[in-house]
Amino acid sequence: METPVDLTVGDLHASVDDPALNSMNFLNEVAQHYPDAVSLAAGRPYEEYFDVAALHRWLDRFHRHLVEDQGLGPEQVRRTLLQYGRTKGIVHHLVARNLAVDEGITADPEAVVVTVGCQEGMFLVLRALRTGPRDVLLAVAPTYVGLTGAARLVDLPVRPVAGGPAGVDLADLAEQVRRARAEGLRPRACYVMPDFANPSGISMDTAHRRRLLESAAEAELLLVEDNPYGLFPVGDADRPPTLKALDTERRVVYLGSFAKSVLPGARVGYVLADQRVAAPDGSVGLLADQLAKIKSMVTVNTSPIAQAVIGGRLLEHGCSLAGANTRERAAYARNLRHLLDGLARRFPPDRFPGVSWTAPAGGFFVVVTVPFGVDDALLHRSAQEYGVLWTPMAHFYDDGAVVNALRLSISAVTPAQIDLGLDRLAKLVADEVAALVGGGADWPR
Ligand SMILES: Cc1ncc(COP(=O)(O)O)c(C=O)c1O
Repeated sequence: METPVDLTVGDLHASVDDPALNSMNFLNEVAQHYPDAVSLAAGRPYEEYFDVAALHRWLDRFHRHLVEDQGLGPEQVRRTLLQYGRTKGIVHHLVARNLAVDEGITADPEAVVVTVGCQEGMFLVLRALRTGPRDVLLAVAPTYVGLTGAARLVDLPVRPVAGGPAGVDLADLAEQVRRARAEGLRPRACYVMPDFANPSGISMDTAHRRRLLESAAEAELLLVEDNPYGLFPVGDADRPPTLKALDTERRVVYLGSFAKSVLPGARVGYVLADQRVAAPDGSVGLLADQLAKIKSMVTVNTSPIAQAVIGGRLLEHGCSLAGANTRERAAYARNLRHLLDGLARRFPPDRFPGVSWTAPAGGFFVVVTVPFGVDDALLHRSAQEYGVLWTPMAHFYDDGAVVNALRLSISAVTPAQIDLGLDRLAKLVADEVAALVGGGADWPR
């Protein structure tokens, strides 16, 4: 008997049936389905350093801050922590201090909106920028699927800009802007990840960042800078300045996340939106205030309890998350080196001429290019028959085409798990290549 239905997917917003929105669920489901597989797929932070006791310490630290630094009495403290609260958040001043200490960004605390993860920040920005059907967003491809998904929710088409080895191909950026305008469309912003991008791992050097700002100025385009991984370089060289630190004309909307630098379970991130917005009555306010209006209708305010946890962690380290993450940074750097050495050992070019990989200077991700198509069916087979998970790169492109590449993540595994995962991956790759060659193909390059 047929199951009676009340609605079809076609009765719902188109986003619910969009591959971008199915992507994260699909990857999570595969991981849950094969719990014994080694996961080189998850971009989640390393769990060994999670410490429940620290939550209490951080809450206490923030509580002390309210009393001692802000002079609040017991009733005000209770209200601040437990009541509905300020839409733009209660740790905005600490976020601004963090940006000054770690990134050299001078931020007006009033321009900070504390959000439910960076993901909400993305949504607020895209919702605000999408005014009508002519609006489009540009994004460096491959790009983070959360961005594509957020754009779907607000019916904002995403047009790819070539990334290239420098992190963004400026000629293509100019061309995409020109083309969109020639079609009568309005490119509202370009989304970029200048630091150890997800998934490419690529970082832009300082000169390229400056050129990107110049190009954006020439094209009269906003830039949306997302920076969850910048604190995790492998080496000791100075980190390049963020675009926002170099931005002298309020061209950059900066997205921050505490998921990798404190903990994802708090679900706290922020948007720094210092752009000046003129109202019809002639008054001028901040983009942050407009975003806060949207936020008030989405999540009302970010949980003050979660913000207090993040606030305490910031206060404990003089608002430096670079300082707070020395252990994590060392672990990620060790893992990234281990993965790169392991790839080199397992895929010597004479035996695997069609296999290559990126060598990022930090962050969580390495992209491996292989001489065969990598799709979801292959991921299933990899999990079931070989016991290793990774992410098909096709998930980071918006055109549904199969890509000959996969993303490996080093963040949630130990070196021993990396070894095991790579052994299994090497077997899969060898078998796939053998099948190609056995099927009469030349050694695919
Ligand atoms: C590039 C990028 N932006 C944003 C996020 C999401 O951040 P949050 O957990 O703060 O929502 C992620 C998470 O993996 C990410 O990779």
